[in-house]
Amino acid sequence: MTNEDQFQLATYKKMPIAAERGEGVWIYTSDGDKYLDLYGGHAVAGTGHSHPHVVEAIRKQAGELLFYSNLVYSSARARAAEKLVSIAPDALTKTFFCNSGTEANENAMRMARMSTGREKIITFSGGFHGRTADAISATFLGKYREIGKPNVPGHIEAEFGNIESVRALADDTVAAIMLEPIQSMAGVRMAQPGFYRLLRTLCDERGIVLIYDEVQTGVGRTGQWFFAGSEAGAGVVPDVVTLAKSLGSGVPVGACLVTDAISSHIKENDLGTTFGGGMLAMAAVTATLEAIEQDRMMENVLRVETYLRKRLQEIDSVVAVHGLGFLLGIEFKENAAVVHKRLLERKIITGTSSNPKVLRLLPPLCLTEEHVDTFVLATDLN
Ligand SMILES: Cc1ncc(COP(=O)(O)O)c(C=O)c1O
Repeated sequence: MTNEDQFQLATYKKMPIAAERGEGVWIYTSDGDKYLDLYGGHAVAGTGHSHPHVVEAIRKQAGELLFYSNLVYSSARARAAEKLVSIAPDALTKTFFCNSGTEANENAMRMARMSTGREKIITFSGGFHGRTADAISATFLGKYREIGKPNVPGHIEAEFGNIESVRALADDTVAAIMLEPIQSMAGVRMAQPGFYRLLRTLCDERGIVLIYDEVQTGVGRTGQWFFAGSEAGAGVVPDVVTLAKSLGSGVPVGACLVTDAISSHIKENDLGTTFGGGMLAMAAVTATLEAIEQDRMMENVLRVETYLRKRLQEIDSVVAVHGLGFLLGIEFKENAAVVHKRLLERKIITGTSSNPKVLRLLPPLCLTEEHVDTFVLATDLN
């Protein structure tokens, strides 16, 4: 740990543990301790740490071909693209692979500008979209736009959940409306289903591209493959869905899923990246999606979410539980940072948020009732 501090920029606030090995919901540290991971390495370990099916696929692919760029065809890439499109809502028919969430959002905004010939992008107060120039300019949360200065022009802010605030801005200079359908970092905030429905109608009426940033909500986390098309989202399917985080179970990968209408505007060399669609990442994507299916993880999410919500009612200091599936924000009477610290002392990793009262849980999708019992017991002890 000291070497890391000595030779790395001090840009991260770290927990005082060194992770050496992982298995399912558990992280084993260099001190021989074992931690229950309810944060999933920042929402990345959807399939759990080092899921055997994913590890095997990566090992096999690494022995065959680590990488070749998009200038050649690849069966690994073909399999991943076909699998990803097959689980997406029907209207999303093509994918573009990149390497991270911020990059997926940059490409989504670029596609919206290309397909509309307009420049402005509406995003929402409290949304987080990444740290590269365009994505950070779209992030109206805390200090992000400030640290991203000078900002990319044309980004405008609406109020999450308030359709009138969007209507007032959505003129014929707007290329896209982009949102985290559940705002994670802001403290796990959801809107009413009608809000998503009205956004879809507004975009259709005014020729605006609707982008869902599903970097956190995608790939099974809400108990369905995507928030797009879900009941909580009034069945709305956007024009573009962006993904990253758990898509590769820890191998860096991002993706945009788009409709025919969007893809018809995108021509050769309009988008590109060296590493996007590399074989190792593609093997990880296919195996991740297979593992979620084979282990029936989304059914598990729905069942264990219900159990967790019920058990949390027993805890006096819990005021409310926000979110869906395994993207949950537990609102406490006390400061969530205090709860986070106390849980860490009891060897449970959780996350905080920009809401000081909200503790965030983004656990692996294989979390069970037994793990919930361990968490509730540790949280309830004052
Ligand atoms: C909703 C959302 N969008 C985008 C990003 C950026 O993803 P990345 O860190 O992979 O660039 C994040 C990262 O936390 C995120 O939570």
